[in-house]
Amino acid sequence: MRKQIAAANWKMNLTYQQGAGLLQEMVSANITLNENQSAVFAVPFPYLEMAFDTVQHKKNYFIAAQNCSDKKSGAFTGEISAEMLKSLNIPFCLVGHSERREYFAESNAVLAEKVNICIRNGITPIFCCGEALQIREENTQNTFVEQQLKESIFHLSGEHVLKIIIAYEPIWAIGTGKTASTAQAQEMHAHIRYVLKNYFGESISNQISILYGGSVKAANAREIFGSPDVDGGLVGGASLIASDFIEIIRALK
Ligand code: 13P
Repeated sequence: MRKQIAAANWKMNLTYQQGAGLLQEMVSANITLNENQSAVFAVPFPYLEMAFDTVQHKKNYFIAAQNCSDKKSGAFTGEISAEMLKSLNIPFCLVGHSERREYFAESNAVLAEKVNICIRNGITPIFCCGEALQIREENTQNTFVEQQLKESIFHLSGEHVLKIIIAYEPIWAIGTGKTASTAQAQEMHAHIRYVLKNYFGESISNQISILYGGSVKAANAREIFGSPDVDGGLVGGASLIASDFIEIIRALK
């Protein structure tokens, strides 16, 4: 069975003390995860080590970075390399979140490099894709998302693409309170899996987890995650509230 994953994306929120408290609350909650389920916390860079230490002994809890450089090392002031993340034992990294694409001009080509460098360092990229409202209104979202995948992950071998997690996050649903309907999410997830199947074969396409992101809340998580091709969620706002994110983890299949 594919991994079912509840991933928190704290974005640029919470002080160190607030983050430490939130994570402690999450770890102390009595959540039972089976071997196919994981909780992942994408925290700001300065909190990585604290977060790693907090979840280290908690089974199926993992820490992620929210970004990494596409460069190996060198004179890139302010950047964080995949190798640095690896040296902190960080197993996951978000790649290509729509906010990175929009505000930091990250292109599909740059994201392909980030995917490569994560994989080279044994870090699982959580590769984000998704269309803006205008594209949805033009009803061209399927080809748009397909293009994002083509340009950033289709160069990988079957062995390497199996190391990726995909997060479909329609931009119009992020932070807007406007969730994609269960049918819209399932339709896109099925399309992504179909595209993966055409390119990498059925067996590989069936093993890749595809998360949904965009206004996932405690109240709608169970319904969204219940769709056959939705393997959990990537959660912003609701991941900042312990009781909400605990419910979201509990909603995993
Ligand atoms: P919200 O859950 O706040 O809509 O954010 C989604 C997101 O961008 C997660 O990466």
